Amino acid sequence: MSALPRPEPRPGVLAIDPYVPGKSSAPGVARVIKLSSNETPLGPSPQAIAAYRDAADQLQDYPDGAATDLREAIGRAFGLDPARIVCGAGSDDLLNLLARAYLRDGDEAIHTTHAFLVYPIATLGTGAKPVAAPEKNYTANVDAILAAVTPRTKMVFLANPNNPTGTYVPFDEVKRLHAGLPSNVVLVLDAAYSEYVRRNDYEAGIELVATSDNVVMCRTFSKIHGLAALRLGWLYGPAHIVDALNRIRGPFNVNLPAIAAGIAALQDTAHQERSREHNTRWLAWLTEEIGKLGLAVTPSVANFVLIHFPQGKGRTAKDADAFLTARGLILRQVGAYKLPNALRMTVGSEEANRLVVGALAEFLGKAA
Ligand SMILES: Cc1ncc(COP(=O)(O)O)c(C=O)c1O
Repeated sequence: MSALPRPEPRPGVLAIDPYVPGKSSAPGVARVIKLSSNETPLGPSPQAIAAYRDAADQLQDYPDGAATDLREAIGRAFGLDPARIVCGAGSDDLLNLLARAYLRDGDEAIHTTHAFLVYPIATLGTGAKPVAAPEKNYTANVDAILAAVTPRTKMVFLANPNNPTGTYVPFDEVKRLHAGLPSNVVLVLDAAYSEYVRRNDYEAGIELVATSDNVVMCRTFSKIHGLAALRLGWLYGPAHIVDALNRIRGPFNVNLPAIAAGIAALQDTAHQERSREHNTRWLAWLTEEIGKLGLAVTPSVANFVLIHFPQGKGRTAKDADAFLTARGLILRQVGAYKLPNALRMTVGSEEANRLVVGALAEFLGKAA
């Protein structure tokens, strides 16, 4: 190596702990059930799969860079102006674009203690500083977020519901948060799991976006629509933010098969309803059955549960993870989310859910 100066990434980049996705294999186990990435056990709509297959005939063509048909389909489904929608390669793409467009060296972006890890990663990548606001009962706390605001704050990320805790902030509280923020701070409402929520006091944020200049809402096709492999998400925002994002996004950031499958998925409302019903039923069942085993489960409104383990030898979250993994049941360790004593479990098929509860009972030496 020469002594000449090497290219250096911008400050902050090397401070990032790279994102580690949920495990998908278990050494030596033939049949693996993956419950580590909040994917749907029902898979995508058959119509979305058919649209994806049909797109195979057009792989030589660039997609429509403006994803016009998809934005119009989203607009129809949600009653929104397509001109105020930006699509992305997953909502990760949109979260990173927001950070790139609005954060610079010396700025601060607030997230909550156990929030989705992409927020600090996207923030550090711009040279800005991630600031963690404490949660209360594993739930974002509006007063704590507002107390963390400084003149350097330029963005607040709120996952609602939050991953990996599954908790949510009622819409009145979201509005109070917005009212307390300076008008030059972008409030990012990440509603990746909103379709699963069955609470009268919850809203994903459409109304707030429609009536303010500094709020955006991100959504994904990876969860209820079962299209995680295709990388597809969208954002609804004020025209001036949409304009900024359209200037910096990749000109073809959403691929053609994803556009086709996304449009078909939106049309299959019966499939979405089936996924929602399945989740509602098994979320309640898992919460109750795991609770009966003596493990604390954080009340969740999403498609996963956070399970807390004791710290005694042989009983920890790590021990449970090893025990379950040896049986092909893959949950998610959440130490990177500052939850070393917990595991996150995606609501799976009936069979998967029963297998996990049975295995946990065995792990704890109890009858399920
Ligand atoms: C809160 C939250 N936001 C965004 C995402 C990213 O979703 P996508 O697959 O659309 O990038 C996830 C994925 O797990 C998530 O949990």
